[in-house]
Amino acid sequence: MQQLANEVRKLRSKFILSEAEMIDTAKKFQRAMQAGREGKGSSLKMLPAFLAKPTGNEKGVYLAVDLGGTNVRVMIIELKGKGNYKILDRHAFPLKNSQKSYDFTSETSSAAALFGYIAERIKSMVAPNSFYPLGFTFSFPSRQTAVNQAVLIKWTKEIKTPGVEGEDVSKILAGALDDKNLHQVVPRAIINDTVGTLLTASYRDPCTDIGSICGTGHNSCYVEPQALTSGEVINMESGNFNELPFTSYDTRLDKQSDIPGEQCLEKMVSGKYIGELTRIILQDFIKQNLILNNNQSDIFFSPYMIKAEDISLFLADESSELTGIFQWLQNVCGASGALLEERITLRTIASIVVTRSAQLVAASYFGVLQHIDPRLERKHSIAIDGSLYEFTPGYAAKLEVTLKNLLKEKSALVTLKLTKDGSGIGAAVAAALGDKGQLND
Ligand code: BGC
Repeated sequence: MQQLANEVRKLRSKFILSEAEMIDTAKKFQRAMQAGREGKGSSLKMLPAFLAKPTGNEKGVYLAVDLGGTNVRVMIIELKGKGNYKILDRHAFPLKNSQKSYDFTSETSSAAALFGYIAERIKSMVAPNSFYPLGFTFSFPSRQTAVNQAVLIKWTKEIKTPGVEGEDVSKILAGALDDKNLHQVVPRAIINDTVGTLLTASYRDPCTDIGSICGTGHNSCYVEPQALTSGEVINMESGNFNELPFTSYDTRLDKQSDIPGEQCLEKMVSGKYIGELTRIILQDFIKQNLILNNNQSDIFFSPYMIKAEDISLFLADESSELTGIFQWLQNVCGASGALLEERITLRTIASIVVTRSAQLVAASYFGVLQHIDPRLERKHSIAIDGSLYEFTPGYAAKLEVTLKNLLKEKSALVTLKLTKDGSGIGAAVAAALGDKGQLND
């Protein structure tokens, strides 16, 4: 057991960042923002959203479609002005369903099948004789030339549908709506989910100038204060940031992923990958006979078998005997009789991975804050949406404490806010802004 304790200690020192390392990462992040803005080589794409923040007085009924992972969400939202809104109807539709044997996210699907399905789902929710301006949240790196045009640069989050990369996604959606005779649905704006989150929060709170997703994927956007494009929202695609303290485990995860060398920050922090990182570490510990000797369960030996939900289960288990983890090992992995030390190790590894995630995200926020307000003189709200932030036990608190420690005596100026459904509601706000023709050419 002494050797196990030593290995856990080594793992912790490889993963957990010191304050100096976080500040260094924040500086690199800030430099990468500047380089990206100037069109110099940078892992941050710094994509203009062709939108500025709302006034809070936008009004009307809008259709919001949110495509960001393995579900498409459709909402009908009434913006009431003065920062108020009401969700009139909402449904989430899975893009893959093993029982009904379809998967619109796989390489065997197509753009026509995926967008045809989305149009069909929209049809199931709209009235034939009403008019619906549409805001479309498309949560993948896309280059925009106007508020209602966006060309997908590359799929992320292991989505593989052919025929979409390099295409204008708003055109594909408009074509699919046409095919279904949905002429009452008129696309007005296409946005990233981080932008949606920022718009939703700033509809109510004008101090909001950073929007972020900590969910299956990770990314942030901000409001650019500098001269020429003052007030414009920039989608940084910060999940692609790559000047980071990688461990050998990160390298292993990256190599086996769909897009090696890309989305490096996302692969170290987001919900799609924290389970996988934990699995890779556990596999290593099992192979070294440190824990769960000779356990050959598929869970530890096949990619992506440990999910963010499992990580939440480990971290939520606060019982003295870690009975939740005991049952998980027994029922899911067939590992009966795991020792308490082994269960503690499982929980500790998950906690190390999650803590580093919060540290790296905090460092990136610190970098953005220094870009937009170098002397930290104003109030800032950071709007955050996503399952990792909302549901992982302790994650939101860790992120906040870490950022506040970096901000030191300025910490009271910065507020972090869960912005539930931000990516969807923001699509309605964007459609309202698009209606007004804001920054759209
Ligand atoms: C995508 C971003 C998105 C983020 C959160 C990343 O994989 O590249 O565009 O904002 O996931 O959904």
